[in-house]
Amino acid sequence: MWGGGYHRGGPSSSSQPGLPFAGIPPEMADKAAALEAEEPDFSNVSEAFSHQIDDDRPFTLWTFLSPYKMRMLGALALLGITELALLVGPYLVKVAIDDGIIPGNFDVLLWVAAGYLASLVVVAGVSTVRMRYTGRLGQLLMYHLRVRVFAHLQRLSLDFYTEEKAGRLLSRMTSDIEALSNLLQTGLINLVAQLLKLIFIIGILLSFNVELTLVLLLAATPFMLAMTLWFRTVSERGYEAVRDRIAELLADLQESLSGMRLIIFYNRMKHNMIHHRNVVGDHQDANNYTAKVSSVYQSGTQFLEIATTIVLLVVGYFILLDANPTLDPEGAFTIGALIAFINLVARFFQPIQQLVALYNEFQSGNAAVAKLRDLLSERPGVVEKPDAHEIEDMQGDIELQNVSFAYDTGDPVLSDVSLRIRAGQSISFVGPTGAGKSTLAKLITRFYDPIKGDVLIDGHNLRDVSLDSLHAQLGVVPQEPFLFHGSIKDNIRFARPDASDSDVIEACKAVGIIDMIERLPRGLDTPCHERGSSLSSGERQLLALARAFIAKPRVLVLDEATSNVDQQSESRIEFALDNLLGGRTAIIIAHRLATAMRADSIAVINEGGIMELGSHDELIAKGGYYAVMFRTWESQQ
Ligand SMILES: Nc1ncnc2c1ncn2[C@@H]1O[C@H](COP(=O)(O)OP(=O)(O)O)[C@@H](O)[C@H]1O
Ligand SMILES: [Mg+2]
Repeated sequence: MWGGGYHRGGPSSSSQPGLPFAGIPPEMADKAAALEAEEPDFSNVSEAFSHQIDDDRPFTLWTFLSPYKMRMLGALALLGITELALLVGPYLVKVAIDDGIIPGNFDVLLWVAAGYLASLVVVAGVSTVRMRYTGRLGQLLMYHLRVRVFAHLQRLSLDFYTEEKAGRLLSRMTSDIEALSNLLQTGLINLVAQLLKLIFIIGILLSFNVELTLVLLLAATPFMLAMTLWFRTVSERGYEAVRDRIAELLADLQESLSGMRLIIFYNRMKHNMIHHRNVVGDHQDANNYTAKVSSVYQSGTQFLEIATTIVLLVVGYFILLDANPTLDPEGAFTIGALIAFINLVARFFQPIQQLVALYNEFQSGNAAVAKLRDLLSERPGVVEKPDAHEIEDMQGDIELQNVSFAYDTGDPVLSDVSLRIRAGQSISFVGPTGAGKSTLAKLITRFYDPIKGDVLIDGHNLRDVSLDSLHAQLGVVPQEPFLFHGSIKDNIRFARPDASDSDVIEACKAVGIIDMIERLPRGLDTPCHERGSSLSSGERQLLALARAFIAKPRVLVLDEATSNVDQQSESRIEFALDNLLGGRTAIIIAHRLATAMRADSIAVINEGGIMELGSHDELIAKGGYYAVMFRTWESQQ
């Protein structure tokens, strides 16, 4: 539990003079403990993450729910009790009329009243328990589902996270899980419960009178089914249209509001007005449509109920006339039974309507399950072997042996590349955009595995090492540094959460942003926003360098990490790099030749391989691609 952070208020912590009181007063300790005991214990979750996939079965409703079988049966039993107790009512009405009112026996009436009351008490009591129980069960299922999907997302490797998938992923995590939520919280249990209820009711009706029940089943039920099916299909379409129109409305509002300056400038107000009026009109039409459909359905079902009642009264009249109580005093049809029967008609239609609604819910829940199954069956492109070993004390000696690579989607990006980077050396990758510089760096950091050939660090084949030990000793600074929601300090110590404040300050000094941070009113505690919009892009890059510095990785990859820095900060970046790279193996991908030429060696990546390799002076002397690039760059300075 989370209790560790504060003092359980014993006398020692609360009675020291002059110290702020930070404990729980002794008299409240019991209550606090009780409250804490009620809180769900989520502490095991952080330990649950592993690169291995524990449950390899395809995700279906059945495999997902089977661990909760007993609890679901419990919920169902509670629901069954409620429904049965509710059905006692109409039966008691029959008894009251036939045995109480008609023979004039007041005692029976009293007993019936007492029985009715008792059944209501049972219903109220059991319902309360059931709602709490099913509510919690549903929440528990949702909780496990969300954590499971999220854990799976954490496990997938970088290849999965290309741009186009982000939006789809978000909808898996929100609307699909939401669609399942309804089904799991109440739907499934209700589906079975309504079926049971229908069977109970038909049983009671049959016990009253078989002919009358057949009239109800054969004459009225098909109409009700057809009407409900029609309503569900049509209204589903209607609600979808409403949702679409709302999205359009919001999009139009958003666009006009953010473009207001241009709209005023170019006098587009009138045009804009007309356009928005159309959008609002469409929204209104869509809403009117669903309202119309609902009203038709409601009055239709009411009409059907009344019509059925009339038919049943008429048929019941003839059955009563025919009935001969003297022949069969027990099983005969009675006035009380007819009244109870008619009483049950409305209750008979209810589960039919609900079942149709639940069937729809079940369908969309199932569609969500299928989509989640697809997601959960994605396998990480980079797999950790079960017997993977750790790289201890990485020195940073990197070797690529005849490495070839292609993304799923296309032509080979790299073919037969061999390269040795000795521990502590720095190397720059230069070359045209799309040549494969980032790809090469991703192979070295094992975000992908090569198709052919091997990547070795300190002689360990990366395919055989544990991902955690590898990534803990590698640092990657990307072109677009991502800042998480939190303070500057939290962002800097992201890779090493246990870093002390003085470590953070040291890192800031090393990359030369300490002045900038100290100028901020809240210093290191200044909040950052997701994309760090409050910081300039150069400052963000320096923060990302500080983040890499504090992790003290043995191998550092800078992928265009210094390209957004303005001319003024150029010297700051160089200062930062000198400190950052000291003694580390470093791979620097840089457009900026001023940065690239400072590395111990330079590799020109082009046409799927390493075209030139050597120090700055060697490559200039060679007079090849790099020399031309350098001369062009120099002439522009
Ligand atoms: N995730 C990806 N899926 C498919 N193709 C990719 C992916 N990432 C990069 N590529 C392609 O691989 C080639 C090399 O890309 P990259 O290594 O990023 O080049 P560089 O960093 O040298 O500009 C390019 O043609 C690029 O379009
Ligand atoms: Mg790149």
